[in-house]
Amino acid sequence: MIEISGLAKSYSRGAVKALDGIDLTIRDGEIFGFLGPNGAGKTTLIKLITGILNPDQGSIRINGRGIGEHPIECKMQIGYVPDDPNLFLRLTGLEYLNFMADIYLVPQEERQERIRSLLERFDLYDAAGDLIQSYSHGMKQKVVLIGALLHSPPVWILDEPMTGLDPRSSFTLKEMMREHADAGKTVFFSTHVLEVAERLCDRMAIINKGKIVFCGALEEIHEHFRGNQSLESLFLELTGDE
Ligand SMILES: Nc1ncnc2c1ncn2[C@@H]1O[C@H](COP(=O)(O)OP(=O)(O)O)[C@@H](O)[C@H]1O
Ligand SMILES: [Mg+2]
Repeated sequence: MIEISGLAKSYSRGAVKALDGIDLTIRDGEIFGFLGPNGAGKTTLIKLITGILNPDQGSIRINGRGIGEHPIECKMQIGYVPDDPNLFLRLTGLEYLNFMADIYLVPQEERQERIRSLLERFDLYDAAGDLIQSYSHGMKQKVVLIGALLHSPPVWILDEPMTGLDPRSSFTLKEMMREHADAGKTVFFSTHVLEVAERLCDRMAIINKGKIVFCGALEEIHEHFRGNQSLESLFLELTGDE
């Protein structure tokens, strides 16, 4: 569970207000989609939840503990996939995964099996001994994804995870997100692709210019906005200029 209250964050000494009073609860057992146009504040929120950035105001609790007060405990609960997979390019896939397993204290006995099964599931087993810089964008994304899941984190936080994945990997990831949520865990992901959100999310929030403009289930969109409005027309209406 992720509980966010009164969250605000600006950049450039207050000149750019990236998040402006965000209240949001992501419950256990649901896939929660975070939608918004480019520059709306999605990545900023994710960097605050994962403790990469500190908020100007407000608080975030991960499974009941504050990220500000208990950063290490909170980070151990989280599997985080950033939007840019260009990390540790001079390591081989396997070196990177062992590095991540070290950081997240995955015991030796467990890690070999876990690395092997995830590599196989994402069809990356044969490339695991190659340098990450030789990987395609999709392969880099997959190795980062595997690294984030090695310690079996209860809370998954994925920033635009489907971008650049081929259809099979994207399908595998969506399948895993569903399994994770069905096991009573938390899945939070951002996207600007409405079709993905429409098919995958149990609930979603739409953010525009740092403010939440809608939060609820897809069915609620149809209930609240009469006339059988589609997610696309709602999105365009809520994130438009007027
Ligand atoms: N490091 C930064 N310095 C200044 N402005 C930033 C920085 N990072 C993001 N921003 C600005 O904050 C706003 C939100 O950005 P971001 O959270 O990356 O949005 P999204 O992920 O939804 O595209 C944008 O206006 C962006 O230009
Ligand atoms: Mg972003």
